[in-house]
Amino acid sequence: MAIEVLHLDAACDNSVHEVLFEKIANDLLEKGYSITPTGLPLELVDAIQTDIAQLGHTEFSPAAIGRHDDTSLNKFVRTDSICWIEGEMPGCAAWNAWMEELKLYLNRRLYLGLFAFESHVAQYQPGNFYKRHVDAFRGGNNRVLSVVSYFNSGWNPDDGGELVLYKDDEDMVGIKVTPAAGTLVIFLSEEFPHEVLPANRTRHSIAGWFRQNPGSDHLLELPDSAGSPI
Ligand code: OGA
Ligand code: MN
Repeated sequence: MAIEVLHLDAACDNSVHEVLFEKIANDLLEKGYSITPTGLPLELVDAIQTDIAQLGHTEFSPAAIGRHDDTSLNKFVRTDSICWIEGEMPGCAAWNAWMEELKLYLNRRLYLGLFAFESHVAQYQPGNFYKRHVDAFRGGNNRVLSVVSYFNSGWNPDDGGELVLYKDDEDMVGIKVTPAAGTLVIFLSEEFPHEVLPANRTRHSIAGWFRQNPGSDHLLELPDSAGSPI
């Protein structure tokens, strides 16, 4: 009986996921980005919020950009702190499993050839920001798809901290995304400049990237900015 109930839950979850995954696939095909308020399943948001609450400040390291960057220079670009996810905490393990499902779905549906996934929790203290940037340069480090999600309950419009997603290099207006718990943003890494505006409250997000298989041994090498994994 218990097994049957579990089975049913799994089936329900799968069909819910499929509806969302199909929406994401269609959005990506149509416009190269997808924004879904309350996209992440509630239980997943809860579990990740629990992990984040358990992370002390010492688990986070100041974020740098790319490799071998001058860290003092980076303070003009981003002032958040990050903690790379290795999936050892329960919420983070569930996050990785969910991303694996999304990867399989998108590969089946869009033939993207997504391969490795890496992600970090980012903590923005009040006033922290991440200036306009792209996550990957054409012909660069083969990050193809960016995923961002948020874990901030009760976020008000005057709390700030919006993600602004620009449609191209010329776009100076962009689309503002409130970093409310469960909102899910996915976009082609090379195509969309974006920035994080300063917030008035501590703001937590996860940013992650799928890579395409470049046929090399160095798929999982992390940037120099890597903090202690969780
Ligand atoms: C990033 C990023 C966006 C956010 O870490 O590259 O763009 O809203 N994060 O946290
Ligand atoms: Mn980014």
